[in-house]
Amino acid sequence: QRLDLDLAAIEKGGYEHFMLKEIFEQPQTIFDSFRGRLDVDQPLLTLSGLETIKDKLLAARRIIIVACGTSWHAGLLAEYLIEELCRVNVEVEYASEFRYRNPIIDENDVIIAVSQSGETADTLVALENAKKQGATIFGIVNVVGSSIARMADAGAYTHAGPEIGVASTKAFTAQLVVLELFALKLAEMKGTISTARLRELTAALHAVPEQVQWILDNQLENIKQVAAKYKDARDFLFLGRGYNFPIALEGALKLKEISYIHAEGYPAAEMKHGPIALVDENLPVVFVATQDPFYEKVVSNMQEIRARKGRLIAVVSEGDTVAEQLAEDVLTVPKSHEMISPLLAVIPLQLLSYYVGIELQLDVDKPRNLAKSVTVE
Ligand code: G6P
Repeated sequence: QRLDLDLAAIEKGGYEHFMLKEIFEQPQTIFDSFRGRLDVDQPLLTLSGLETIKDKLLAARRIIIVACGTSWHAGLLAEYLIEELCRVNVEVEYASEFRYRNPIIDENDVIIAVSQSGETADTLVALENAKKQGATIFGIVNVVGSSIARMADAGAYTHAGPEIGVASTKAFTAQLVVLELFALKLAEMKGTISTARLRELTAALHAVPEQVQWILDNQLENIKQVAAKYKDARDFLFLGRGYNFPIALEGALKLKEISYIHAEGYPAAEMKHGPIALVDENLPVVFVATQDPFYEKVVSNMQEIRARKGRLIAVVSEGDTVAEQLAEDVLTVPKSHEMISPLLAVIPLQLLSYYVGIELQLDVDKPRNLAKSVTVE
């Protein structure tokens, strides 16, 4: 018994929980997922898995992304990125729906499978079906040698290392990095990106590990206080637009998983069509409001919530003054390129859910009813 306890403590590397350890590992894991793949000076991208299906990719009329849970959120962000950078049609599918609705697939389709474990049953079966119909499968998987990694025609590992906490954190940011690299490389191959833009984006990606470290070094106390303040809320709303919309969804999912507080993620402008009815002086509304082309729009969405006395919490870029003044509480992240900044914006949301869970004395590493890997339907 004593030995078991000691071993568990050693595995947690001095952290109280695996979830916190894994959140703190992100400067390293993000670096690991682009190490050897990104030469920022040239700039040069190497994604050998992608090269092996180059012809299929260049000929593909659409790309379908198949995933579940947090991995699906990474896929949603990739839809925005790939469509913008590569000018190819992208669809994002929940594996459980995709496998049963008799989708139209043929040999012109390329499917990107996103999975931490590489063992999620719905994703695996959806891919097997698509493969039988001739589609090419590209796996973005964390666990080396897992079922999805083995069945894929090509792929790129995320290199996040083992993730023990049931709620995904470092695996998610690693998925985002690989999907960013995928989008950039494909854009380069298709000739849909200028060298200047490629240079700008690769430099922004390269800066992320240090910027995540900045958040961990400078925002922890603030986030703990925000968590303590809102821990008794019954519901939360998470809102974002554009590249930050998938982050709003992920923020809401993390909070549900870890704190059992009901949380909904929504596109910020869509709130008018329903969720705004929930807003009152008790409802915390988290805006992902980092600097991007939608910033002004997000600010006006924030004003709408404020007018209804909702309690505004905003994730903002360093140096922001407008959103900062509107919000009751502010979580700051460093400035970045709008396509890269979701990698930063998600970090305070992971920490917020962790600390709310801690405040409520819950088992943050093993939330009730959840499994790390869902290998049955
Ligand atoms: C479970 C896990 C989630 C994960 C999802 C998909 O629900 O608790 O954290 O996002 O499965 O798993 P995968 O391994 O395919 O990414």
